[in-house]
Amino acid sequence: MSQITSFMLFPRSTIIVVLLLFLLVSLVSSTPPEDPIKCSSPNNTTCTITNSYGIFPDRSECKASRVVYAATEQELVSTIAELTKNKTKMKVATRFSHSIPKLVCPEGQNGILISTKYLNKILKVDVNARTITMESGVTLKQLINEASKFGLVLPYTPYWWGLSIGGLIGTGAHGSTLFGKGSSVHDYVLELRIVVPSSSQDGFARVLSLDQQNEDLNAAKVSLGVLGVISQITLQLEPMFKRSITYLTKDDSDLGEKVGTFGHEHEFADMIWYPSQHKVVYRVDDRVPLATSGNGLYDFIPFRPTSSVELALVRTTEDIQESTSDANGKCLLAKTTTSTLINAAYGLTNNGIIFTGYPVIGFQNRLQASGTCLDSLQDAKITACAWDSRIKGEFFHQTTFSIGLSQAKNFIQDVQKLVQLEPKGLCGMEIYNGILMRYVTASSAYLGKQEDAIDFDITYYRSKDPFAPRLYEDILEEIEQLGIFKYGGLPHWGKNRNLAFEGVIKRYKNFQKFLKVKERYDPQGLFSSEWSDQVLGIKGSVTILKDGCALEGLCICSQDSHCNPSKGYFCRPGKVYKEARVCTRLKSP
Ligand SMILES: Cc1cc2nc3c(=O)[nH]c(=O)nc-3n(C[C@H](O)[C@H](O)[C@H](O)COP(=O)(O)OP(=O)(O)OC[C@H]3O[C@@H](n4cnc5c(N)ncnc54)[C@H](O)[C@@H]3O)c2cc1C
Ligand SMILES: *[C@@H]1O[C@H](CO)[C@@H](O)[C@H](O)[C@H]1NC(C)=O
Ligand SMILES: *[C@@H]1O[C@H](CO)[C@@H](O)[C@H](O)[C@H]1NC(C)=O
Ligand SMILES: *[C@@H]1O[C@H](CO)[C@@H](O)[C@H](O)[C@H]1NC(C)=O
Repeated sequence: MSQITSFMLFPRSTIIVVLLLFLLVSLVSSTPPEDPIKCSSPNNTTCTITNSYGIFPDRSECKASRVVYAATEQELVSTIAELTKNKTKMKVATRFSHSIPKLVCPEGQNGILISTKYLNKILKVDVNARTITMESGVTLKQLINEASKFGLVLPYTPYWWGLSIGGLIGTGAHGSTLFGKGSSVHDYVLELRIVVPSSSQDGFARVLSLDQQNEDLNAAKVSLGVLGVISQITLQLEPMFKRSITYLTKDDSDLGEKVGTFGHEHEFADMIWYPSQHKVVYRVDDRVPLATSGNGLYDFIPFRPTSSVELALVRTTEDIQESTSDANGKCLLAKTTTSTLINAAYGLTNNGIIFTGYPVIGFQNRLQASGTCLDSLQDAKITACAWDSRIKGEFFHQTTFSIGLSQAKNFIQDVQKLVQLEPKGLCGMEIYNGILMRYVTASSAYLGKQEDAIDFDITYYRSKDPFAPRLYEDILEEIEQLGIFKYGGLPHWGKNRNLAFEGVIKRYKNFQKFLKVKERYDPQGLFSSEWSDQVLGIKGSVTILKDGCALEGLCICSQDSHCNPSKGYFCRPGKVYKEARVCTRLKSP
């Protein structure tokens, strides 16, 4: 409390300037993220698992009776055989567990976790065939570094290198492009090996090797972890190339028109949209000849080690703005944050040290992804990843869905109508760098994207108190329902709140084929959980109905108690999308 009051003595603008000075200082010592698996006994039994944010959408805790750290495919086989024989529920877990939903939780209290933390070796790089074969726990960072030593690169990847290859294909993770084989890493899989349960004749487990001739690969590529454990993955790479990146800031009035063509004009195009500021930052990003000079580096500022003092200050500021309904304060913080990021080129440098101007030209492996907050030099919590749950830092919801290219314009215009009605309504999410818009592409994976689309990635304040409504709660809820229900958006499997998955499986034309493969590979559903059954439409609903459920995205409100009437929030129709039901503030608390 004393901290808060002394903090309030300073004028807001001073605080913001101080915060932003912190933001630009990249300190050297950083704490590596905590292990998401914790066991109460030294023999790796009686465990809990969470994600990298330390919390699931429904705030429940997931338990497992044991964790097995398999370091070889053979250990996977023997573990899965033993557990299949015992009909024990199991799940694959990774070193960082970056997915938000409860994909990683085994069913019940007595399930077993199979971690790929030590299944992390690069097995082979074939320079002539331009392929890489690796174990599934290899991180994107390792993959990028190893391939580049042989002059090879993966062209389109997520922007964060802390993901494991098994986890990122398992949830359909992607970068941004409409070119080549598209934006998703799983569309570059040539072959994978997966260990699945089997009958006693097979010794209770078997290893399947799936290549592109085998249709089952379309199920195994984006599997949500429900088919078995992928042990090895072979990806198609290409020769090293260079890129030339320029961020162009423009007015957002014609964003709806531009979105359809921009992605065809630039190979690595994406957009960062700040709707309340009426601004879009277009990433003009293309391949250039290797001989072009430049040794640029992209060390994205929000993925750098961030000072925990600064994080606490920002969080306290946000908490105060929320509790005092200080929309102007949020808008000011958003504006300053945005202009700081734009002026710092989001972390791009022309030579790895300073930014001297656009275009930034450099090798693909130095520009495609980053995540320096994962690296640690010492164990003091001076800096960390901004969302590290051990410090007072960012705490947010993430809503991420893709809308077919032909529909994106209408969605954008609906959001713009909402901004007209509530000009300050979206400042809050602009503090989290606005709406990241990326091009994603139709895939042969049964649970992959169904058509070329734009992925909208929105991050916004979440209160530590599940019953505390957010400032402009209704506006973001309406955008979420617009995207997912009015425009039939497909959720990112590794992000989102529960309601985004409601009934969504029916929008995948081959989902029955996926379920048939699951039935063949794991007939007893040992790799399935209540959550995966709900998401796959097998049993029950992802919706959790209880007081305040709409505030946490566990339901769409249908009665006032799903919001928080005591704080003045009631369940009402949307402003632009009348079919939406959102928690709207009707009177001051
Ligand atoms: C900071 C940050 C940035 C991000 N940036 C992007 C981005 O740019 N683009 C994007 O698309 N996504 C992005 N994501 C989301 C991310 O892609 C997903 O959350 C990703 O799937 C998580 O990978 P993971 O290795 O942490 O897997 P986990 O979350 O641990 O696991 C995901 C699923 O895969 C399964 N699984 C894992 N390994 C195996 C295996 N070997 N065999 C079978 N199943 C397995 C798990 O059981 C689980 O169901 C980002 C996330 C964060 C935290
Ligand atoms: C693990 O240790 C606990 C005590 O810490 C013991 O009760 C349990 O039997 C042990 N389990 C195994 C599998 O060794
Ligand atoms: C527990 O897991 C660790 C890996 O973190 C491993 O080194 C250790 O051998 C395991 N202990 C047992 C008893 O299996
Ligand atoms: C499997 O079942 C047997 C017999 O019930 C038991 O002794 C053993 O501990 C079980 N193993 C696991 C991994 O649960």
